[in-house]
Amino acid sequence: MKQIILVLLILQGLFGFSQETKSDFSRENFNKDWKFNRFGSSQFEPGLYLEEPEGLELAKHNDSDWRKLNLPHDWGVEGPFRDDLENDTGLLPWKAIGWYRKHFVVSESDSAKLFFIDFDGAMANAEIWLNDQFVGEWPYGYTSFRFNLTPYIHFGEENIIAVRLDTEKLDSRWYPGAGIYRNVWLTKTNTVQIDHWGIYLTTPKITEEEGLVDLQVKLKNYREKVATIKVLTKIYSPENVQVAESKILSAALPAQSEKEMRFEIKLKSPLLWDIKKPLLYKAVTQVFEGEKLIHEEQTNFGFRTIDFSADKGFLLNGKKVEIKGVCNHHDLGPLGGAFNTRAAERQLEILKEMGCNSIRTSHNPPAPELLDLCDKMGFLVQVEAFDSWQTGKKEFDYSIHFDAWHIDDLKAMVLRDRNHPSVFMWSIGNEIPDQWNPELAMSLANAVRANDPSRPVTAGCNWGGTAYNGFQKALDVFGYNYNHWSYEKFFSDSANAQLPFVANETSSCVSSRGEYFFPVAEGVANDHVPGNGIFHISSYDQHYPGWGLMPDKQFELIEKYPRVMGEYVWTGFDYLGEPTPFNRDITDLLNYTDSAEIVHLRKYLDRLGADEIPSRSSFFGINDLCGFKKDRFYLYQSKWRPDYPMAHILPHWNWPERIGKNVPVHVYTSGDEAELFLNGKSLGKRKKAHYEYRLRWDDVIYEPGKLVVKVWKDGREWAEESMETTLKASKIALSVDRDEITADETDLAFVTVNIVDENKLLVPQSNNYIQFEIEGEGEIIAVGNGDPNCHEPFNSNKHSAFNGKCLVIIRSTGKAGVIKLYAKSEGLVGSEIAFRAD
Ligand code: GAL
Repeated sequence: MKQIILVLLILQGLFGFSQETKSDFSRENFNKDWKFNRFGSSQFEPGLYLEEPEGLELAKHNDSDWRKLNLPHDWGVEGPFRDDLENDTGLLPWKAIGWYRKHFVVSESDSAKLFFIDFDGAMANAEIWLNDQFVGEWPYGYTSFRFNLTPYIHFGEENIIAVRLDTEKLDSRWYPGAGIYRNVWLTKTNTVQIDHWGIYLTTPKITEEEGLVDLQVKLKNYREKVATIKVLTKIYSPENVQVAESKILSAALPAQSEKEMRFEIKLKSPLLWDIKKPLLYKAVTQVFEGEKLIHEEQTNFGFRTIDFSADKGFLLNGKKVEIKGVCNHHDLGPLGGAFNTRAAERQLEILKEMGCNSIRTSHNPPAPELLDLCDKMGFLVQVEAFDSWQTGKKEFDYSIHFDAWHIDDLKAMVLRDRNHPSVFMWSIGNEIPDQWNPELAMSLANAVRANDPSRPVTAGCNWGGTAYNGFQKALDVFGYNYNHWSYEKFFSDSANAQLPFVANETSSCVSSRGEYFFPVAEGVANDHVPGNGIFHISSYDQHYPGWGLMPDKQFELIEKYPRVMGEYVWTGFDYLGEPTPFNRDITDLLNYTDSAEIVHLRKYLDRLGADEIPSRSSFFGINDLCGFKKDRFYLYQSKWRPDYPMAHILPHWNWPERIGKNVPVHVYTSGDEAELFLNGKSLGKRKKAHYEYRLRWDDVIYEPGKLVVKVWKDGREWAEESMETTLKASKIALSVDRDEITADETDLAFVTVNIVDENKLLVPQSNNYIQFEIEGEGEIIAVGNGDPNCHEPFNSNKHSAFNGKCLVIIRSTGKAGVIKLYAKSEGLVGSEIAFRAD
């Protein structure tokens, strides 16, 4: 007996606390083996509408010929890109009626348990049936929701769940995706349980000696009789060692009742969660009935303080932190809206390398896993709720659901995410057309505060007047989108002297990776489109829409006005849809109130010829749709990581048609002084002036060869970089982001394909068509090249490169083994790469 106990103790030690007695609570991933069918607007045929048959929700419906798939799934990104569709939402056929069905069995032995289905997000207008019975509906595609399936389950028999999604009646200003595009879970509980999102954890007191955890638990008794329970919470350190335990609280929960319990748990010498060292603790809350553990739930949290004030800005753990943030839409490039944790992690890795420390989840709540990643990787997150309230921006946007649903949606957002240390602000909306309505703003802000008073409420305000009409009083942190022309007034106005301020959306600089146009000049993008059927924007990073500005100018404003606690650049990555300045419809015009500007823009749209515009994804990204860095990445890196020695030269140096002509050279560097050499000849030294963030040699006359830049900082040698004229493209070079991926059917490898010359230099402007073949335990799930005008499908095993680059996304089959990718292209030496799934 003693030996058995010893073995159990050792096992417990090895596997951590989760191996203790199993509770009745479990959360099973419910993504596998769904059946799918689409009706409504045809995927392929313009104008064709496929009538939706009756009775698809009924168990008896024969779905044997429906397509089998695993979630998350986005039916829109399957394409094809179609010229007859709106380019503002990506030219993709996402409008349709989608049906998902799943057959599943719940064991007879579980008939005394409760079963819930949890959708992290379904786009959109979800309606759900189980075994012919209507279970419920949830219109908003971006918030998570749960339904109790227990009353409809046939225990020990086959059950059929049917989900109808309808994106025909959905409008968006960007690509929304379509389908059950996030994870789905089947949650099992005892009839006495911790309620859904029923734990609220804060750390109200933190000193070097002691940390206080305030943990509130909402318990729910579904039974027809009283239940007597005991509840306790244990705290585990970042090393997974138990460091504290609460008192045990007992309660008798009357039949069909709810009860809140509160624990105050002290622990010694708390380690802080910080963006540099994001240390996470765990609280494990256990509910016992007699000796039986009936519910155990884990809450990850961090000890950190956040303070916002007009004079000090934003303080994390008492220290000032400038917000170096980006706005991101939810799509993951060639994967569309279908969420994948590794794809999100890769984006965050790229942003971290750039020095970014914060994300604004524009303009909607994110997948929950994104916040887990931000907790782990040390990002601060502003979670945003909506892009419109009562007054819409498009016919079928959120405004049609606002009155009936916004309180539920806000609750879903806050209750789900309020324990994440990374979440540090709630935004109640982006550029809301109801900015004239302070009462409405106050009611939303209060709805947020009712569920989490520990974080400030903000909004992205795009009307100058919103800072003065009372709307600003609803906010704890005031956020202007753009409106840099209004800063002076805001900061000199005594009415708002106490209001903390963040530049909630900035710059909107547009560029195409690797494209440069001459002559080089700064200005509104519409006035600088190259024309002649070229739908690209120069990558000298000097173009923006009428409401935007150069990144450099925003840096200057942040330095000039110390009350600006930082910025959220529009955007970290290119996203599907909204290809400003090549929008085909008039959404762009909504950003203007000035009639002369509207006339100017209309003329511009006419000049482009709306029918000919191929653009289907945005130009705003600091990184392109595949996550390849544009030049701008280095501009932000130079400003956001001042201690990291780096230099970056633009443009590329292959300009045979410009020999003897001017090609300006710009250098982004974290140094302060540099000398540029062309073929060994100095083109002079430049030093950054006050409010200057790039070094420019604007009068360089092009000759092929090699540019070298030598950089100094504070008089010391700091960095060196070069850019060479390449030979002609001759080879394919492959590299993979990780040598090993997890063999779990979900993990991804991102293979970068470069078109290179004999000397392995990337050949700019090479757009070779490449074919891929895969062997072993991986499958190609998407390809792409970052060209916003490319209409080649993402779900393919061939793709053209864009300016020397292409991306292949490979998913593990679930089995361990080697994965080999071969790439070939006419006229180039092919290549292969191997890595493992384990
Ligand atoms: C903002 C808006 C964003 C995006 C951006 C483009 O006004 O909030 O969603 O449209 O403009 O510059």
